[in-house]
Amino acid sequence: AVLSADALKRAVAEAAIAYVQPGEILGVGTGSTANAFIDALASVKGHVKAAVASSESTRERLQAIGIEVVDLNQVDRISIYVDGADEITPALAMIKGGGGALTREKIVAALADKFICIADSSKLVTTLGTFPLPIEVIPMARSMIARELVKMGGSPVYRTGFVTDNGNVILDTYGLHISDPVELEQRLNNLTGVVTNGLFAARPADVLLLGTVDGVQTHH
Ligand code: A5P
Repeated sequence: AVLSADALKRAVAEAAIAYVQPGEILGVGTGSTANAFIDALASVKGHVKAAVASSESTRERLQAIGIEVVDLNQVDRISIYVDGADEITPALAMIKGGGGALTREKIVAALADKFICIADSSKLVTTLGTFPLPIEVIPMARSMIARELVKMGGSPVYRTGFVTDNGNVILDTYGLHISDPVELEQRLNNLTGVVTNGLFAARPADVLLLGTVDGVQTHH
């Protein structure tokens, strides 16, 4: 049987509903798979106390189905964070930020007890880096950081016409050989002018719900 990517996204979104704890605040990611999760949340919204959104677009979607969205500063703990990924490894390290929301995603994920990644099987990779790594930078540092990335073997491409929710720009960086994602995440963070990079490795996902033609697989 051939299942469309959309059907696989719906399947993992519904599987993630089982992790929603009644009366707890949850964090919600950004992208087409996270949107499928928001659609699925509509049926259990009575159990959801409130949510923290990782982007303006997610905030609007949550509010549209009647879920209260709170500012992260009003919250000291989030039970789960549910989000997609652009790539994920069997060790549950990820590349995120294809949709440009990486900074708020990383912040919300950092406050969550559990990161539940929902993804269709096309996202599972052995080694990260085929998907260009998004790096959010302060606009005035863009060219300087691009040169540093070239020295590191990368080919950064300025995401033209795109400004993040935080008013910054993104360099989509091709060609990085990501054999040690934790080390590279740290090294990129150390470049002055980098706000966030799309490697989620120091804090990987805790659970991966992977949508396959044979059903939803759970990886820990
Ligand atoms: C948004 O910035 C990203 O991190 C998304 O979570 C990621 O791009 C996955 O998006 P899709 O679910 O649309 O593939």
